[in-house]
Amino acid sequence: MIEKKIRDAMNDQIKHELESFYIYLSMVAYFHKQGLDGMAHWMRCQAHEEMIHAMKFFDHIIDRGSTVILQDLKQIKTTWKTPLEAWQDAYEHEKFITGKINNLTKISREENDYTSEPILSWFLNEQIEEEKNTEKVARELALVEKSKQGILMLDRELAARVFVAGSSFDPTAYNVAP
Ligand SMILES: [Fe+2]
Ligand SMILES: [Fe+2]
Repeated sequence: MIEKKIRDAMNDQIKHELESFYIYLSMVAYFHKQGLDGMAHWMRCQAHEEMIHAMKFFDHIIDRGSTVILQDLKQIKTTWKTPLEAWQDAYEHEKFITGKINNLTKISREENDYTSEPILSWFLNEQIEEEKNTEKVARELALVEKSKQGILMLDRELAARVFVAGSSFDPTAYNVAP
C-alpha cells in the first residue's frame, strides 16, 4: 500500500503531467499556425512524452493497490507573442515541474516510502533533460533574435526529433492511405 500523503501528491503529479501535455499540445497548434512545423513536430514529441509521464504515476499508484483520482486541468495559454516567448514558457514550466518532483521526493523521504525511490529518481533525472532541452532552444532563439533565417534554421533542426516508437502522436502512425 501507499501512504495517503504520497498517494495524494502523486495524484496531483498526474494532473501536472497532463497539464504539461495540454500546454505543449497548445504550442503544437501555435507553431503550426506560425508556419514553424519543425517546432510543432518537436512539441508533438514532447506532448507524447508528457502523456507517458502521467501514465508512469498512474500505473505506479495502481500497482501499489491504491486509487487514481483524476482532477480538472486548468485553463491554459493558447497563444504566444513570439516563438521565443513560447519556448521561455516551456522552460519555466519545466522548472515548475522539477520543483514538484523535488517536493514529491521530500514527502516520500518524510514518510519513509522507500518504494517510491526508483520512480522518483527516474523523474529527477528526466527533469535534467527537460530543463536542458527547453533552455537550449530558448537561449538559441534569443541569440538569433528576429532573424528569419536563424528561426528557420532552428525550426529545421527541431524537425529531426524522433518520436517514441509506436507513438500515437506520430501523424504517420494514423495517416493511412485511402
Ligand atoms: Fe513531464
Ligand atoms: Fe524527456
